[in-house]
Amino acid sequence: EKGGYDHFMLKEIFEQPQTIFDSLRGRLDAKNGQLTLGGIREYADVLKNANRIIIVACGTSWHAGLVAEYMIEELCRIPVEVEYASEFRYRNPVVGPGDVIIAVSQSGETADTLVAMESAKQKGAIILGVCNVVGSSIARLSHAGAYTHAGPEIGVASTKAFTAQLVVLCLIGLKVASEKGTITQQRFQHLLDELQDIPEKVAATLQLNDAVKQVADKYKDARDFLYLGRGYNFPVALEGALKLKEISYIHAEGYPAAEMKHGPIALVDEQLPVVFVATRDSFYEKIVSNIQEIKARKGKVIAIVTEGDQIIPGMADDVIEVPEADELVAPVISVIPLQLLAYHIGVLKGYDVDKPRNLAKSVTVE
Ligand code: F6R
Repeated sequence: EKGGYDHFMLKEIFEQPQTIFDSLRGRLDAKNGQLTLGGIREYADVLKNANRIIIVACGTSWHAGLVAEYMIEELCRIPVEVEYASEFRYRNPVVGPGDVIIAVSQSGETADTLVAMESAKQKGAIILGVCNVVGSSIARLSHAGAYTHAGPEIGVASTKAFTAQLVVLCLIGLKVASEKGTITQQRFQHLLDELQDIPEKVAATLQLNDAVKQVADKYKDARDFLYLGRGYNFPVALEGALKLKEISYIHAEGYPAAEMKHGPIALVDEQLPVVFVATRDSFYEKIVSNIQEIKARKGKVIAIVTEGDQIIPGMADDVIEVPEADELVAPVISVIPLQLLAYHIGVLKGYDVDKPRNLAKSVTVE
């Protein structure tokens, strides 16, 4: 049932070229420049005219929501907020007609997310569900939505569901942008082509498994880790830190790289591994200076970079080179080595990575 893999988590990480393909199937037709999202067709106008989009989710799904905030604001020019479902629910938020809520959930059963969307629905907002489990409570309570189609996720740590969420949220953003006219035909076609290429690039990234395992072996005894990124890769840093915490029980924090100097840089010494998600994008020069700041304080830098990077390999202690991709879809690729890093450290430390202590696959209590 684990398909020859030692753990479900590893199997699910390796399934991603296929699951991403499944998320795109029947929706993306890059050759003809077409994008179809049957589940939200009737709400296309509502989305296009939304005053505001509020994404509610928890955990890894919340991280996917953060990436979507960057994507949707960029593509559609609609203000987006991303809320922890639990906080949104309990603070009497300002929400009503004209607002669109996107509830993102793998299981579709997370109580905090469910209650948050229910209360927003009562206040007149339109609810879209982005769920993995077909027929789940969140899917049923949504006005409309798009399934992620990643297949059953057994490992408690979410991996393939996360990349499927990124892809589906990107499709939603592109669809709305094209209807709204906030994207040029050229950029639209380019992003369709980029999405089409993702499964292959993810497959290529998975070839780095042994290299990542070596990095895992080198740093597995560290007490803390810092994960840093900017722009589209900032939520990837958060997700990398969460994966490490849950699977290896090592304390890890994710930060926007520029926030480091406002506090966390005080943690840096020769004992601290700092993972930089530093693929080539519009934030590249800035992140290079953040790497310099860490090296100047003797931190150990593990960098996820774009293939062929000429600068960062000369500065970092360890480098993982991933295929080039447009910054909008790059998180789908740059998160892969971070999933593998957490997996290998957890296994090397002898933990049950499929069932980390204290965690349940679906959190049905508020
Ligand atoms: C992390 C993880 C959790 C879930 C969170 C939300 O690996 O799995 O953080 O992402 O509990 O769950 P869903 O997406 O089912 O609502």
